[in-house]
Amino acid sequence: MWNRRLLELHDIWLLFCVTYVCHIAGAISVLAPQRSVTRWVQEDVVFSVSVSCSGVPTLRWTFMSGTVSRSIGSWRPGGNSPSSFSFSNITEDYRDRVEAHANGSLGLARLRLQDAGFYVLTVQEDSGLSEDRGFVLKVNEVIYEDLQYLSVSALVLACLAGLLMLSMWLLDRAYRKIKACRRLREQRADNDTELHPL
Ligand SMILES: *[C@@H]1O[C@H](CO)[C@@H](O)[C@H](O)[C@H]1NC(C)=O
Ligand SMILES: *[C@@H]1O[C@H](CO)[C@@H](O)[C@H](O)[C@H]1NC(C)=O
Repeated sequence: MWNRRLLELHDIWLLFCVTYVCHIAGAISVLAPQRSVTRWVQEDVVFSVSVSCSGVPTLRWTFMSGTVSRSIGSWRPGGNSPSSFSFSNITEDYRDRVEAHANGSLGLARLRLQDAGFYVLTVQEDSGLSEDRGFVLKVNEVIYEDLQYLSVSALVLACLAGLLMLSMWLLDRAYRKIKACRRLREQRADNDTELHPL
């Protein structure tokens, strides 16, 4: 009887310990309000996340598209101010376009078509525990051929309108001239009839 109760107590204690350890170790939380973003070429994007965990995490961003997998950079918050890093390593190709945030967010400026794809944030604790979050970026192209086509159509329409106005003006002039001629002829005819009786 006593043995059994002791065993139960022991189990409860063990369960408590496991839960507590799990709670300490598994305390990575990654909040991401928007996981799919669409932008135009040359625009900027911020993959906004808020990372919290018990220790200081290492944040690593990777770009994936088709068979390509490229490291964008990794950093660790820390230092004197809340926005400074104790470590930051941004890949050469991205150095002038990437903005790293201490909460894990990644800012990418002057987007290109090739930037479209998957962005994965890996949050790693010193214990080895890690958590991933994926984001999708779509980049739309401003289609210049469409604009060209539009401007050419507008030009053609303007020319047509101009031609129409010109022909209307010419017709109007011709009509006035014909009218004037007719009036002149009528006047002359009147004069002739007036002159006849004399
Ligand atoms: C993370 O930090 C950046 C810059 O301080 C901020 O713009 C962004 O809203 C933050 N994201 C979240 C989810 O709090
Ligand atoms: C910076 O990142 C690159 C690519 O991930 C890696 O090869 C390099 O060793 C890193 N440098 C440092 C100082 O960690």
